[in-house]
Amino acid sequence: MDLIESIIKRKTTNTAFADRKVKKEDIELLIKTASHSPSHFNSQPWRFIIVQDKEKINEIGKIAGDSMVQLMDDGRFWKQYRKYFRFSKEEINKTKDGIHIDHLPSFLKPFAKKIFSESGGKVISLFKVSRILGNDEEKLVNTSPMLFCIALNKDEYKPNELSGFYSVISLGAVIQTLWLVTTSIGMGMQFISTPGEIPEKWNQLSSILKIPNTYELMAVFRMGYIDDKKKRPAIDWKSSQRKSIYELSFSNEFGINWK
Ligand SMILES: Cc1cc2nc3c(=O)[nH]c(=O)nc-3n(C[C@H](O)[C@H](O)[C@H](O)COP(=O)(O)O)c2cc1C
Repeated sequence: MDLIESIIKRKTTNTAFADRKVKKEDIELLIKTASHSPSHFNSQPWRFIIVQDKEKINEIGKIAGDSMVQLMDDGRFWKQYRKYFRFSKEEINKTKDGIHIDHLPSFLKPFAKKIFSESGGKVISLFKVSRILGNDEEKLVNTSPMLFCIALNKDEYKPNELSGFYSVISLGAVIQTLWLVTTSIGMGMQFISTPGEIPEKWNQLSSILKIPNTYELMAVFRMGYIDDKKKRPAIDWKSSQRKSIYELSFSNEFGINWK
């Protein structure tokens, strides 16, 4: 696939992957291309952990599902992220950002706005929404043929120093490379970031992956080959809208419209 086409086609994969192993040569292509990402002084502060062991994947799936349930049940998720939720095409076409919750079980549709609100706690527990989301998350992780995890060297990743900032920029470059290369070879990937919101859950992931004290686990993705026949999760979203280049850019000074 042409590079520009991969960039435009790149999407988060919310559905299950094809039920087959990822070829070793594809995994090595991902690592090889990721290793060509830029980093400050070519420090290459990243290390990659590729998880294919079924038991480990299931352990991580359980943590991801439980994290989702906990975040929903304690109300933190909606408080923090409500501003990104859109409920209709009109709404997302207007803001051109955020995620459109366009797929819900029919019994939940009349309550959509209520559920995804700060005061949605009662509806969430009545319809066991957190369980639906948690089960979906766990299943998506458990059925993934592989997880791709990235850790940063703490000699470079010092959150309050410039090298910490540079390391995070370098990490972003690695992630985009992985995303583009997966797209170009018929694979997909999805962040598993909910455990990152609960320090004890993230620590559990780090210890399952045996991350040493000298490294910080930064990102975990599920990956596999795309299978268009897989059904969408019970509660799902799309986010293909983007702001126009005119809304995003200025000429010479901030605030002077790009023409
Ligand atoms: C730092 C970061 C964390 C993210 N966490 C999640 C996540 O936990 N689950 C998920 O499905 N998508 C996650 N995403 C994906 C975004 O929701 C997605 O990139 C955005 O909505 C645009 O959609 P697209 O990737 O399909 O273009 C994350 C993306 C970034 C950059």
